[in-house]
Amino acid sequence: MALFKKKKELADYSDKAVPTSIGIIMDGNGRWAKNRHLPRSAGHRAGAKVFRTITRYCSDIGVKYLTVYAFSTENWRRPQDEVGALMRLFKEYLQEALDDFKDDSIVIHFIGDKSSFSEDLQKLMDDNEEISKDRDGMVLNIAMNYGSRDEIVRAVKSISEGVKNGDIDINSIDESMVSDHLYTAGQPDPDLIIRPSGEYRISNFMLWQSAYTEFVIMNKLWPDFKKEDLDEAIRLYNLRSRRFGGV
Ligand code: IPE
Ligand code: IPE
Ligand code: MG
Repeated sequence: MALFKKKKELADYSDKAVPTSIGIIMDGNGRWAKNRHLPRSAGHRAGAKVFRTITRYCSDIGVKYLTVYAFSTENWRRPQDEVGALMRLFKEYLQEALDDFKDDSIVIHFIGDKSSFSEDLQKLMDDNEEISKDRDGMVLNIAMNYGSRDEIVRAVKSISEGVKNGDIDINSIDESMVSDHLYTAGQPDPDLIIRPSGEYRISNFMLWQSAYTEFVIMNKLWPDFKKEDLDEAIRLYNLRSRRFGGV
């Protein structure tokens, strides 16, 4: 089975704007499992399936960049067995992506600090990036061990290094230089960020990039999220008036 299952039924997007770049905070797996008296890991497994469906759907409707928040820099605080289950799930999915890549157009890119993961997981991440880098479809950023504050600290360090060794003139530091030192360098900022599970917070996701992003909070747990919910989020996005500080 291909990693991102092909789906035929698409909503009619001909008269609506499909956001160029979407971010999704895939939240609510634990509560979904708890409601069913299942272990939290069962929620993560159900969430991973939804990730697959929604990623394919985004690519099919013409989204150019999709960033999914899979594991934050703070998620290591969870019990060891939950972290272990998540790592096993990541490995399974990334191995499957390698085995079934052939007819796929999606470019896979990881954002976050890979170095905290086991060597075999890091290799799977690198191999997925390498094997997909020349494709011409949607860019899928998978945020793993990602924290936006950590990302900004890294950018500051890297720019400071450049100043110290004379490669960067301090007066040339501007917003675009900072953007170019983030994991998302070269990509447009997200137009829309969706957070399922009803939480009204950003949880350290794309703080710099989301300065003018439209937020849609949905009262649905991620494992219950359907293509129709993505359609609804885009419908709400299309009702917004984006002003970027102008009038
Ligand atoms: C999101 O679901 C998945 C990860 C953070 C890895 P949660 O596990 O946070 O689910 P809830 O918020 O506890 O329901
Ligand atoms: C954000 O969800 C991280 C991911 C979805 C990967 P969390 O469940 O970790 O966020 P908080 O703790 O509710 O803010
Ligand atoms: Mg959560």
